[in-house]
Amino acid sequence: MIIKRILWGMMATFASLIAFVGIPYFIATKPIGILRYKSAELLANTAYNLGFKAHIVFGGIALLMGWVQFSKRLRAWNLLWHRTIGTIYVVAVLVSGSAGLGIAPFATGGFWNALGFMTLDCIWLGTTAMAYFYARRHYITAHQAMMTYSYAACFGAVTLRLWMPILMMVFRDFAIAYSIVAWLSWIPNVIVAYFLVRRLEFKGK
Ligand code: HEM
Repeated sequence: MIIKRILWGMMATFASLIAFVGIPYFIATKPIGILRYKSAELLANTAYNLGFKAHIVFGGIALLMGWVQFSKRLRAWNLLWHRTIGTIYVVAVLVSGSAGLGIAPFATGGFWNALGFMTLDCIWLGTTAMAYFYARRHYITAHQAMMTYSYAACFGAVTLRLWMPILMMVFRDFAIAYSIVAWLSWIPNVIVAYFLVRRLEFKGK
């Protein structure tokens, strides 16, 4: 019980910090972060810039809303809050995930990195849509299972930023580290989600 609380607290802290990681992109007057690796032509593209910013803002909202929903106490206290926050999460995922699909083909490092992010995006959008569908039909265990996968995908934004400094320390090369993190940021998360869901289904029987 205490371990569960500590893990939930860590998830909440990391998610709440990383949710704001995109703010510098709105303040900077010249390309920063990942945008330093983009061509002048792409940086001048309005659709790309809109997609990039929508992805960051709504991704941050999804990260902030998601962890709250796993609190049994909040669900028991007020189901209307759970529904309202859940709806905001679903809309945020829809916007950030769709925008993510638009910007992923231009990912730094080329095809395999783009494929890693696009696969993650499809898992994020797909499991969130299924979770919503199950919630509407009151299939609660199936809803919880899909939301576990959805937030594990969303949490890839956090684990990416935890893995990146470790990979940079090991390889001392941004291109290598980034090509690994495009997959490593989310595959272990999905595996952890799989075991959490198995426990959930076992308990439900
Ligand atoms: C879970 C599914 C997600 C996918 C598939 C995804 C995908 C991407 C892609 C493809 C890029 C551009 C990378 C490049 O051009 O090389 C990107 C950048 C970015 N994303 Fe996401 N993202 C996801 C979730 C999130 C969330 C939840 C946030 C919340 C803060 C977020 C924040 C950012 C930021 C700030 C950047 C700019 C790059 C940086 O400075 O690290 N993303 N994302």
